[in-house]
Amino acid sequence: MGTSVDAPAVVAEEVTDNMLGGKKVTVVFVLGGPGSGKGTQCTNIVEHFGFTHLSAGDLLRAEIKSGSENGTMIETMIKEGKIVPSEVTIKLLQEAMIKSENDKFLIDGFPRNEENRSAFENVTKISPAFVLFFDCTEEEMEKRLLGRNQGRVDDNIETIRKRFKVFVESSLPVIEYYSSKDKVKKIDAAKPIPEVFEDVTAIFAPYAPKV
Ligand SMILES: *[C@@H]1O[C@H](CO)[C@@H](O)[C@H](O)[C@H]1NC(C)=O
Ligand SMILES: *[C@@H]1O[C@H](CO)[C@@H](O)[C@H](O)[C@H]1NC(C)=O
Ligand SMILES: *[C@@H]1O[C@H](CO)[C@@H](O)[C@H](O)[C@H]1NC(C)=O
Repeated sequence: MGTSVDAPAVVAEEVTDNMLGGKKVTVVFVLGGPGSGKGTQCTNIVEHFGFTHLSAGDLLRAEIKSGSENGTMIETMIKEGKIVPSEVTIKLLQEAMIKSENDKFLIDGFPRNEENRSAFENVTKISPAFVLFFDCTEEEMEKRLLGRNQGRVDDNIETIRKRFKVFVESSLPVIEYYSSKDKVKKIDAAKPIPEVFEDVTAIFAPYAPKV
């Protein structure tokens, strides 16, 4: 997996045969471990490159809060400790993309694993333009998380290591899958935030809104 922060040669993924009623979209998956700084950079990308940020967790919470029939169903499942089927969450992502006036989406923290990826592609028939991967060593992430959460008991070293392990085990197969299709743009996320943003800018420049 080579570091590739070069601007992509091809800009928009031509997707006509998707499940968004033919709406053409550019989808970027954003992956990175806890403390990799991907949240900060997502905010930057939304602000500077006109993407709409989507998070599966936020959409689930919004659906529950809306009190819709589906929302109530989701709430009940979570309360009963059942796993919300991937299809449900993916349908929410799909709906959000159809409803949005935008056609450029950052899907944050998704797909978490190979099952998520395959379900997304099966349901939406969309493949991402690329995957933005915030690569950071475990030592660096630990340092950041411990610094950020001083005094918080739930973020002790054990919890952090466990989250990191889960991230690596479930997400690496997804990264490898897209790497084999030459779709991973890896960023050295251990660098200071402004430098990381420079790399992000190089990648997203072709997507900047035309003035
Ligand atoms: C992703 O996978 C996890 C673990 O299997 C599952 O709980 C979750 O519902 C899936 N999410 C989506 C959006 O597919
Ligand atoms: C509820 O979810 C199903 C499948 O996930 C979807 O087809 C349907 O449109 C949803 N209903 C509403 C009111 O959003
Ligand atoms: C997606 O479709 C493929 C091919 O039909 C199938 O093998 C795979 O199990 C499906 N994935 C999910 C998560 O349903």
